[in-house]
Amino acid sequence: MQIMKEVIETGDFDFYPVEHHIIDSSTDGKKVEIKWSDGHLSKFHFIWLRDNCPCCIHPDTREPIFNIVSMPDDLLIYSVSTTQEGFLEVIWSGEPHTSYFHPGWLRSHCFDLLKKPFPEPLTWDSKNKKEPDRFDWNEIISDPKTERKWLYSLVETGCSIIQNVEPSKNGLIQIAKRIGVIRETNFGLTFDVEAKTGPDTAAYTEIGLPPHTDLPTREYQPGLQLLHCLKNSVKGGESILVDGFRVAEEIRLKEPETFDLLTSVPWDFGNRSTLTDYRWKTPMIKLDNNGKIEEIRVGNFLRVPLQIDFDLIEPMYKAYKLLETLNHDDRFKLRFRLEQGECLIIDNRRILHARDSFDSSTGERHLCGCYIERDELWSSIRMIERRNRQKRMNSALNQ
Ligand SMILES: [Fe+2]
Repeated sequence: MQIMKEVIETGDFDFYPVEHHIIDSSTDGKKVEIKWSDGHLSKFHFIWLRDNCPCCIHPDTREPIFNIVSMPDDLLIYSVSTTQEGFLEVIWSGEPHTSYFHPGWLRSHCFDLLKKPFPEPLTWDSKNKKEPDRFDWNEIISDPKTERKWLYSLVETGCSIIQNVEPSKNGLIQIAKRIGVIRETNFGLTFDVEAKTGPDTAAYTEIGLPPHTDLPTREYQPGLQLLHCLKNSVKGGESILVDGFRVAEEIRLKEPETFDLLTSVPWDFGNRSTLTDYRWKTPMIKLDNNGKIEEIRVGNFLRVPLQIDFDLIEPMYKAYKLLETLNHDDRFKLRFRLEQGECLIIDNRRILHARDSFDSSTGERHLCGCYIERDELWSSIRMIERRNRQKRMNSALNQ
């Protein structure tokens, strides 16, 4: 048998518990049909199988080394069968090559069973949500199930609060690094949100901040924002969140023409700093290829004069007014007070954040923040699921 222990069986670093076995396979040369032990049928195309042959993977990096340029034009499948170990054996016609596919890997790549990798966002408003989901930092770092729940909550609701965090910059960095790499910006690796003399943005004053996303002025708006409360003894300064996806869906439903403008006409974002001149021009609501809302950009204090077709100026201001009016509507707001040792995490491309004005003569308010990207979160979730698959495989092997 050619399948040796040292041969890479699946072509990657993941784990594929074999929960279904191949009981039959056939080919017409161009596609393979597989019947599984639970009765499910899978189809795989010859070119896809050849491209993903696990022996055409670098043994260390596990990156593909198969190059389509070297693929014979007359490549077809000569025969398929199942090995004693349950692998799919594919003998090729057109080149002297045989491929072996791991049944767990094949099943997890069945085109009819492709699962969405992450849950859909569960949009909320003040009726169905009262405050962000809360998690305890010590439980997150000691219990993988709690950590998984926390990360999925971030994907679904776009926000969470972690309690019992060391009230320091170090406490913030520990949380950020638990998810991934911190994205440094012109405000630094981390930034201190407190009333400052000579502020370079509205966040560094005492004034109330309207609902906004951070850095809509940048080509790539940060994916996640962490705001860790180091001190909060002032009068005022309550935190406010708005689910931007929920507001956008409201506009899509009730004012479809306005929705079309907000998703198609670019808007001018820009900072007005003495040191930097970041600008970005893009619609305030971005849709993905399937028309689903992917990103919101809003920042009343992060705008520069609108420069679009003259005839669109008035309708766009009207559209902007509706969007901002809804963003300020109590129907969509969560309001809470961030206390010392609590770290708020939001999906900055979905959840708008705001704060009430505060009076710094009544105490101190000091938040420390940083950014990380959404795909750091997705990578963390995939790694948790990979470890869970590994555990399932190990427990099956030990039975
Ligand atoms: Fe902000």
